[in-house]
Amino acid sequence: MTTQPDFLVLGSGIAALRAALALASRGSVCVLTKGEPDQGSTGWAQGGIAVAMGDDDSPRLHLEDTLAAGDGLCEPDAVRALVGEGPRYVSELLAWGARFDRDAQGRPAPTREAAHSVRRVLHADDATGREISRVLHEQVAALPAITIIDHAIVTELLCEGGVCVGAAYRDAQDRRHEVRARATLLATGGAGQVFAQTTNPTVTTGDGMAMAFEVGAEVADLEFVQFHPTVLDVPGRPRFLLSEALRGEGARLLNVAGEAFMGRYESAAELAPRDRVARAIVRERQRTGGPISLSMAHLRDLDVHARFPQISEACREAGLDLARDPVPVSPAVHYVMGGVVTDLDGRTSLPGLYAAGEVACTGVHGANRLASNSLLEGLVFGARAGAVMGEPPRVRDGWGPGRLVACAPAVPGPAVEAPADLDVATVRLRAWRDLGLVRTPEGLQAADAWFTQARAACVASTAGDLASAQLRSLVTVAYLMSRAALRREESRGGHYRTDFPERHDDTWGHHCSDVLQRTAE
Ligand code: FAD
Ligand code: SIN
Repeated sequence: MTTQPDFLVLGSGIAALRAALALASRGSVCVLTKGEPDQGSTGWAQGGIAVAMGDDDSPRLHLEDTLAAGDGLCEPDAVRALVGEGPRYVSELLAWGARFDRDAQGRPAPTREAAHSVRRVLHADDATGREISRVLHEQVAALPAITIIDHAIVTELLCEGGVCVGAAYRDAQDRRHEVRARATLLATGGAGQVFAQTTNPTVTTGDGMAMAFEVGAEVADLEFVQFHPTVLDVPGRPRFLLSEALRGEGARLLNVAGEAFMGRYESAAELAPRDRVARAIVRERQRTGGPISLSMAHLRDLDVHARFPQISEACREAGLDLARDPVPVSPAVHYVMGGVVTDLDGRTSLPGLYAAGEVACTGVHGANRLASNSLLEGLVFGARAGAVMGEPPRVRDGWGPGRLVACAPAVPGPAVEAPADLDVATVRLRAWRDLGLVRTPEGLQAADAWFTQARAACVASTAGDLASAQLRSLVTVAYLMSRAALRREESRGGHYRTDFPERHDDTWGHHCSDVLQRTAE
């Protein structure tokens, strides 16, 4: 069956819904989403949303912190848009009724997170994403122009004459449908599920990145994967995120001897950027041979359970008291800095196709995203994309001179036998082992060879079922990540190689993009 709204939005997280709200006054909007409408990373966000609204803060300071965390690779124009327009869009959320924590005078009470020089993270306890999601869904429900179709798994972008004209999806009965629209927004989120250990929900399988690459859109920065330092590490329990806001409120990382060790690795100790804290944890674990834990026991003035109710409950279910016990932690994949290349208004290299949120790459996060900048990114760049999607389709604007270097096109390989062990679990284990926090030359070579073969086999496969489509997304993203990680012979942000442990601005101070070589049509 084919439907024809004016605009098509893929996903129902913060980027998708904010874009849909911007589009609703210009025509009909169809939102397709993989599972329930509130499934996705947005609803799981804990720490908060970073925004320069405090008296001691300014967009300038927020820009400086974002650039510093990005390790030399943020695109300043994108960051200026983020931090400059952030206050306007967060004020809008407040006006729509977002219930963020407030101080005794009734003003929003921001918390601190790592690598922020001031308290600027607005939050709703430790479940900020749930509150933002509630508000956005409430706004959307009030607009008859927007229709949400859930349990609609998009498997293909439709292109005609080099223009994206919509998408095809499978419904819960595995029937195929097409939606054709004047403009299509990818807001399908990240790709944490490519890895065996992740904080991400099950829907984040990188479908948007993979589908865009398949139809010839440019992707970039996929070597930059963010590992959150503190995820609950109790055997048999889910890898539940222990928000950075815990460290922002004073939590310490302890080694097996109970010593606070971060000061030996970083002058900012627990509040250093995420990539650095995560690697320090791995080093300390190797040095001591024992586990690392997070402790709040010394914070006598903080009502830990009241401030972090959701995390307290997850710890309680694991038999731990967050206020008293050392809680075992380890890093896990959390966020992908790279994605589908866009300009500041969400246009991609494919006319008619736009992208916003975690699926997109504006260069705003550089090599390492600053904590709580992702919800803000979805809000600001979702709104920006929604504002221009009514215009005639065109190719994205360029980045600054020399900032984004196109690498040799990925050539579709010959049809090959699939690796004997090709399945979702193996993909995730291999990505975790070979594309992890500390990358070795042997691991990267092995990943590149295996994922290249796996991708060629997936592309050659004629299987049209959902499980095959899912596997193909995971494999395609892992293939792009291994290709990018092997290519970048330096270390910075979320990309660390044992054979090239230093940052090299002269040779690698730019972003690299990949595009699929188109066969003659
Ligand atoms: P998402 O919110 O992930 O939404 C993606 C949508 O696309 C979903 O609706 C999904 O179902 C849909 N989708 C995916 N594939 C398909 C398909 N094939 N067909 C149809 N639909 C599809 N960031 C912060 O700034 N602050 C925080 O405090 C914070 N905490 C976090 C805590 C956790 C546990 C996690 C996992 C992330 C956190 N992040 C945080 C990151 C942030 O939540 C995400 O980066 C952000 O919400 C992404 O928003 P999005 O709209 O791009 O994607
Ligand atoms: C957290 O609460 O630690 C997650 C914040 C983020 O991903 O920015």
